[in-house]
Amino acid sequence: MRFDRDTWTFDCEPTMTDSQVLAFCRDGCLLLRGVVPDEINRRTCDWLDGAIPADPGFVPDGMTQAEMDRIRGSHEPSTIFLEDWFIEHVLLNPQVAGIMRSLLGPVIGLPILASLHRVECPAEAGNWHQDLDCVFGPELHFVEVFYFPQDTPAELGPTEILPRSHLARFDGAQQPQGGVLSDGPAGTIGIHHQSILHRRGASAASGSRRMLKYNYWRTSPPRRDWRVEADFDPRTADYGGHLVGRYVAHLFAWLAGKGDEFRVIGGQGWPWRTENQLRPSYGFGTTSGYLPDWRKGNADGYAR
Ligand SMILES: [Fe+2]
Repeated sequence: MRFDRDTWTFDCEPTMTDSQVLAFCRDGCLLLRGVVPDEINRRTCDWLDGAIPADPGFVPDGMTQAEMDRIRGSHEPSTIFLEDWFIEHVLLNPQVAGIMRSLLGPVIGLPILASLHRVECPAEAGNWHQDLDCVFGPELHFVEVFYFPQDTPAELGPTEILPRSHLARFDGAQQPQGGVLSDGPAGTIGIHHQSILHRRGASAASGSRRMLKYNYWRTSPPRRDWRVEADFDPRTADYGGHLVGRYVAHLFAWLAGKGDEFRVIGGQGWPWRTENQLRPSYGFGTTSGYLPDWRKGNADGYAR
């Protein structure tokens, strides 16, 4: 693990295989249960609750004590990132770091903004939504993390996520089906594509549910430099079914540094596949097909 405080970046070895990177492209989420040590989880809760003093390991250039106090007391207590114990055990958590290195390439930009989502339970479920300013496209410039520093069983309202909902705008006409809870013991970390559909889970228990949300950032162009699997064949891999596979394949191709060349020919052509074919699908590697229309008339509100 190489951590550079001055550039606010880190680097390490990638841990995800081709199949795992593709699964993230397909699902848009994964969950690491209980990966942060208990003592750090307790300290995080105490710090967020104001029960222990701040003890920053360094102070950003020009930042005054008054600013640090204001930030700590806000709903975006980003100065927790200045605590050495938080950097070592949460931001640079080995499992998280290896995943970020796999998805975001070398020299990863560390989070600069923390959002604290505190819920006094019991509480109703929140509304399903995709976060403001999310964008739909094959690029993965950043990855979102939810850190739950206290035990967060279903009764304490962990975030509910709808896998495979990061590819297009949710129109709200129907209630999503198939949501999964980010439940787990203290130290559970959810990792998401930021465009994924989610909501605060309903809670029946009493207590304070804290969740910290923050993003890791890409600083280098994408390449297939995660753990390459000898028997992984992008020609026959499972990208998901109708209306989905083209986007998942595009996202995977972009991560592999081949996003500009990506085209599909439609129909039963690649990336569509079934178990019952005689040979691999036609259309893999074509340069004259179509680009998936991620934005559908710019449904996310960004031009081009
Ligand atoms: Fe949200």
